[in-house]
Amino acid sequence: MKLSDREYMETVKVELLKKVDNSYRITIGKGLFPQIVKYIADSNYGKVAVITDTNVSKLYGKKLLSILKAKKVPAELFSFRAGEASKTREVKAKIEDALTLKGFKRDCVVIALGGGVVGDLAGFVASTYMRGVPFIQIPTTLLAMVDSSTGGKTGIDTAYGKNLIGAFYQPETVFIDVELLKSLDRKEMLNGIIEMVKHGIIADKKYFLFMRDNIDRIYKLEEKILIKAIKRSCQIKKEVVEKDEKEKNIRKMLNLGHTIGHAIEKASGYKFSHGISVGMGLVVETKIAERLNMISSIESQRIIDLLTKLDIKIKFSDVDIRDIVKNTLFDKKNTAGKTNYVLPLKVGKVAIDVSVKEKIIFEVLQQST
Ligand SMILES: NC(=O)c1ccc[n+]([C@@H]2O[C@H](COP(=O)([O-])OP(=O)(O)OC[C@H]3O[C@@H](n4cnc5c(N)ncnc54)[C@H](O)[C@@H]3O)[C@@H](O)[C@H]2O)c1
Ligand SMILES: [Zn+2]
Repeated sequence: MKLSDREYMETVKVELLKKVDNSYRITIGKGLFPQIVKYIADSNYGKVAVITDTNVSKLYGKKLLSILKAKKVPAELFSFRAGEASKTREVKAKIEDALTLKGFKRDCVVIALGGGVVGDLAGFVASTYMRGVPFIQIPTTLLAMVDSSTGGKTGIDTAYGKNLIGAFYQPETVFIDVELLKSLDRKEMLNGIIEMVKHGIIADKKYFLFMRDNIDRIYKLEEKILIKAIKRSCQIKKEVVEKDEKEKNIRKMLNLGHTIGHAIEKASGYKFSHGISVGMGLVVETKIAERLNMISSIESQRIIDLLTKLDIKIKFSDVDIRDIVKNTLFDKKNTAGKTNYVLPLKVGKVAIDVSVKEKIIFEVLQQST
């Protein structure tokens, strides 16, 4: 570039071309607390912050803390009121201040012990505290085990929507202990099961059929079956995340069932659980695919039969279909005014970025009532 006589400049280039290795291991088993404590003790962190919610604190937080202390690991418990309503900037700031007051420095580690709310919030705290400290996920709900603890999405909600502020920040490791599910109720189990079925539809027919044939054994927490299923879900999610960590393209496939699902959840004023809403979202999105001749009626029926078996049929009389359609238009995955869907092509294969007309959504929803 040629400068005029009146102009002059020099530049300094900051070269930070990096090769990063954010790989980590997910360990799945039972009775893992001693292993977890050994891992932490061997890692020589400065101080350990166990972040949890009020329910999980009583169930497992205090126990984990006492094992850590018995091994002479300096640790403190930080707990906030259980529930999505705590996934806010305010609660994040309170935890950060408490960490500072208790003398947590750059060499500390954050342990996220809890469901998806704890994982998202504690992970986001770890991503910004002292410009980033390591964190470990110990998921305690089935949903967190098969979905939120892997993949590095962390964040909080605002008054304008869910997960609007956050960071991609991968955990250092994940420990999944199925014994922690003993205290989880059936409704929370279903939230996880729906995501597992979703994984089957996205990527693995064999796994989908395995889930179909073993639902009761999963509810009964039969260890071998449960561990096998959780492992397969984690593998499917990790394969997707490895190819597209920041959700530029194929990671979107994990949103199957969620465009309609989130819209139903919101239209019900969050009266319907995430699992029920996404389960219904899977049914409706499968019917949309069938309507667009993208999936055969045999494959479509296979999906709908399993979801029916899971008893996820909701009463559409409780929600206004027009609200559901309106909510899909505000879905954060939309770009340039188009509502983009992930739709099943068969069990084990999906298409992403399918633009669907509002009229079709409305008609399929009406037929689903
Ligand atoms: N980061 C991601 O990739 C990702 C993916 C999916 C969902 N999420 C987020 O996850 C959150 C939902 O997670 P969730 O369904 O785990 O909800 P949650 O964390 O609110 O847990 C549900 C309830 O179960 C209780 N609980 C947790 N473990 C328990 C146990 N072992 N026994 C008894 N009770 C227990 C909790 O205290 C809470 O009351 C949402 O905020 C969602 O946005 C994140
Ligand atoms: Zn979900």
